[in-house]
Amino acid sequence: MARKKIALVGSGNIGGTLAHLIGLKELGDVVLFDIAEGIPQGKGLDIAESTPIEGCDAAYAGANDYSAIAGADVVIVTAGVPRKPGMSRDDLIGINAKVMASVGKGIKENCPDAFVICITNPLDAMVWVLREVSGLPHNKVVGMAGVLDSARFRYFLSEEFNVSVKDVTAFVLGGHGDTMVPLTRYSTVAGIPLPDLVKMGWTTQEKLDQIVQRTRDGGAEVVALLKTGSAFYAPAAAAVQMAEAYLKDQRRLLPCAAWVEGQYGLDGIYVGVPVIIGEGGVEKVVEIELSESEKAEFNNSVESVRGLIAKSKELMPQD
Ligand code: APR
Repeated sequence: MARKKIALVGSGNIGGTLAHLIGLKELGDVVLFDIAEGIPQGKGLDIAESTPIEGCDAAYAGANDYSAIAGADVVIVTAGVPRKPGMSRDDLIGINAKVMASVGKGIKENCPDAFVICITNPLDAMVWVLREVSGLPHNKVVGMAGVLDSARFRYFLSEEFNVSVKDVTAFVLGGHGDTMVPLTRYSTVAGIPLPDLVKMGWTTQEKLDQIVQRTRDGGAEVVALLKTGSAFYAPAAAAVQMAEAYLKDQRRLLPCAAWVEGQYGLDGIYVGVPVIIGEGGVEKVVEIELSESEKAEFNNSVESVRGLIAKSKELMPQD
């Protein structure tokens, strides 16, 4: 059986890390694409030369022409610009909406059967543009945000409780921005919900509130430290988990920016919700019960995503 083909559109910090992880996990052969000449070819060659040492079988190619992504099974999109200190994800919309329009066209013409994972920010609006322009079914175009946001939440909680990250589960809903909604009731240590851990004296409500805020600001914290770009190791790991769920039909339940129509009372929008990913792409949007205050926070986040989608509509090239 031929190996799967995974196309990475954007070969910068996240694209290179994705390429490396995909090879290490032997998920398939990798095509790196970028508008910058030499970068995808150079990164592809460098990583390919590490495969004899790692003992993994994966072929690498680099390209500046969209024909190279033809027939890809999975496309992971990181093309565009990352933020610098002081910028919010939303500040990237002017450039990245146009980039997503060109990427969407490349996908439509070359690999309309692919499962597409978008990482480019502002995430929820950029997934919307990619889907609109590519014309792929909504269940085959999804955004990576919740897996990353909940991983940050899980990491901070594991530090606070001094337990393994493996035993911490966490849920984050809503848009990938300042309005995201980390859900403490649905976050646990080995099944014990966070509010119970407060009652058990493992932490205080005040400490928990600080961790929730640190999760919301998780991306900005890394940007402030790096100064020249944004996070790339954790975002790449998160997208690879989603790609693996699709390629291996794992039916993982993961928080993703998915198309929601009907569920949560929404009438067609991309926003962060729990979904099941398997061979059919996004196979199900899972509707969980929200308290009044959680609903209010989620609706606030949805409104902010709506604003970004409206702005993207104006920015998209008309042809
Ligand atoms: N088509 C293809 N590639 C493009 C295009 C385009 N139209 N425009 C820019 N690129 C490429 C750049 O040449 C660069 O190699 O996208 C790559 C982006 O890489 P980085 O600048 O290193 O950014 P990265 O850290 O990988 O983040 C990419 O993901 O998390 C988000 O906010 C982040 O939007 C940013 C994206």
